[in-house]
Amino acid sequence: MKKNIIIANWKCNPETQEEAKRLFEEIKNGIENSNTEVIICPPVIFLTAVSFKESGIKIGGQDCFWENKGAFTGQISPSMLKDAGCEYVIIGHSERRKIGETDEEINKKLKVALNAGLKPILCVGEGSEEREKNQAHDTVKKQLENALSNIESVIKNSDSFIIAYEPVWAIGSGNPCSFEEAEDMSIFIQKTARELLGVSPVRKIIVIYGGSVDESNAKDYITKSKMEGLLVGGASINSEKFIKIINSI
Ligand code: 13P
Repeated sequence: MKKNIIIANWKCNPETQEEAKRLFEEIKNGIENSNTEVIICPPVIFLTAVSFKESGIKIGGQDCFWENKGAFTGQISPSMLKDAGCEYVIIGHSERRKIGETDEEINKKLKVALNAGLKPILCVGEGSEEREKNQAHDTVKKQLENALSNIESVIKNSDSFIIAYEPVWAIGSGNPCSFEEAEDMSIFIQKTARELLGVSPVRKIIVIYGGSVDESNAKDYITKSKMEGLLVGGASINSEKFIKIINSI
């Protein structure tokens, strides 16, 4: 049976290692659903504090640099994430784009992450102005074209590739994307990514949704919007809510 992917993006939370450990344990102990693959992306400083081994939960980074080592103060590299036990890494989140991350940087990060053996979770999504001007598809297409530029040779060994549709206006706003709009974008992203990756051997493109996901709408994004997973922010740092999301799928 196909497993849906439920990803927790803890962003810059919680404030202490003790809280991070507690949150992780509460989530681990509450999972009753074996039809989901649960991935937690804590702040990098807590990666080694959470005992994910043998928990059934996978861990990921929230970002990475585009070199594996060198004189780059403050950066965390893909090979460091891999060494810390990460299988996944979020790349191109809108909160990073907002503080200056460019499509070109996202493309470089994707290549180095793939080469290091990580599975990237590429984030795309339009802002409210673009949605109002009917430019959502153009924006997402451009983001995909730039992110996936010349990526065929590094992606060829991956059996799947995850793309998260996160409309910027839906993130943290309590105003989630409608199920119809999400389904439309899921189909569009599948088609566009497939065309861009051409006949590359990536067997599967997995499109997931993020933006004000909670326990009341999670299941419908899977059943109505045909999303194959969810990327959860705010509700993922509340163990009760996040467990309900996982167990509702
Ligand atoms: P919220 O679930 O808080 O809207 O955040 C979504 C997100 O940005 C996940 O990466």
